[in-house]
Amino acid sequence: MRILVTGGAGFIGSHLTEGLLRAGHDVVVLDNLDPYYDVDIKRHSLGRCRDAGGDRFTFVEGSVTDEALVRSTVAEHDVEFVYHQAAQAGVRASVENPKKSHEVNTTGLLNLLEAAADAGVERFVNASSSSVYGRDEYLPYDEDHPTNPRSPYGVTKVAAEHYCTVWTDLFDLPCVNLRYFTVYGPRMRPNMAITNFVSRCLNGEPPVVYGDGEQTRDFTYVDDVVEANLDLLETDAADGETMNVGSTGNISITELARYVVEETGADVEVVYDEARDADARHTHADVSKAERLIGYEPTTTIREGVSQFIDWYRKNREWYEPLVIGS
Ligand SMILES: NC(=O)c1ccc[n+]([C@@H]2O[C@H](COP(=O)([O-])OP(=O)(O)OC[C@H]3O[C@@H](n4cnc5c(N)ncnc54)[C@H](O)[C@@H]3O)[C@@H](O)[C@H]2O)c1
Repeated sequence: MRILVTGGAGFIGSHLTEGLLRAGHDVVVLDNLDPYYDVDIKRHSLGRCRDAGGDRFTFVEGSVTDEALVRSTVAEHDVEFVYHQAAQAGVRASVENPKKSHEVNTTGLLNLLEAAADAGVERFVNASSSSVYGRDEYLPYDEDHPTNPRSPYGVTKVAAEHYCTVWTDLFDLPCVNLRYFTVYGPRMRPNMAITNFVSRCLNGEPPVVYGDGEQTRDFTYVDDVVEANLDLLETDAADGETMNVGSTGNISITELARYVVEETGADVEVVYDEARDADARHTHADVSKAERLIGYEPTTTIREGVSQFIDWYRKNREWYEPLVIGS
């Protein structure tokens, strides 16, 4: 199949691209290599995709906000399937620059939806986020939980989901929204808790927890997220649906920090700093809908995933660490 992955130079998009190429598909990546974190991490990720796909891999450098480019990319490559991962990701970035998040995450999405519908694309998979939920009224979140985003980023993701539902109903473009819950793994964005903890511990510095550390998260290993996406190549059972893609269980930030200290063997204690308001207090996913519709079953526990990430970090320290510390 000919597949477009937007944001395919990024963390999740590049793992997904590798997975698709290994499964024998042709993949076009559209990504503008946005420098909001170190672009060399993205170049390494693109290198991995090239190695996995050879001639079946094409990279188009440009923005999803460029309507003409989006249209020509979809048309010229005869795109049959779209995984839309491009976004201004991150809550804090959206608090600092809400208009940029809006422009990329909603206007960019609309460009893709219009081009995909006009080209008769078979299915459009949209990367959404647990940030749509905001304050928890009950846990774990199922997909019927009210969406009360607490950040501009969360608002853009709610809007994007609604656009996708409308495009399914009105414009015959089958769309699926996947609400990812804090994804981690090799080449992850450097500005996330796990990278900070690992990097600090390996350098003999204490991990810094914002707030009291009692906040909890579902940390989802990137391979599980890729699996959920690949499952959608096989079935139309989730068309028009929105599903949580979370992990095997959740963990408090303090527990996570202590686990990283233990696993790295660092001789440090966890330290605490002021809480950041736009962060949700708890995220915890009920993944039964995805299990029922597409057979999604996360397999990597947080302990296994963090150990794997630490191993990977140690092996790739030479290039990844300076980019993380410098970011
Ligand atoms: N990582 C997580 O924990 C997480 C959680 C929930 C949802 N998500 C969503 O998953 C998707 C992928 O996230 P990620 O963690 O891989 O982030 P990422 O920042 O590593 O990847 C996003 C990619 O999109 C690209 N991009 C940004 N603006 C663009 C534009 N205007 N045009 C084209 N490309 C553009 C970036 O260059 C980057 O390579 C995003 O939609 C994000 O909102 C991620």
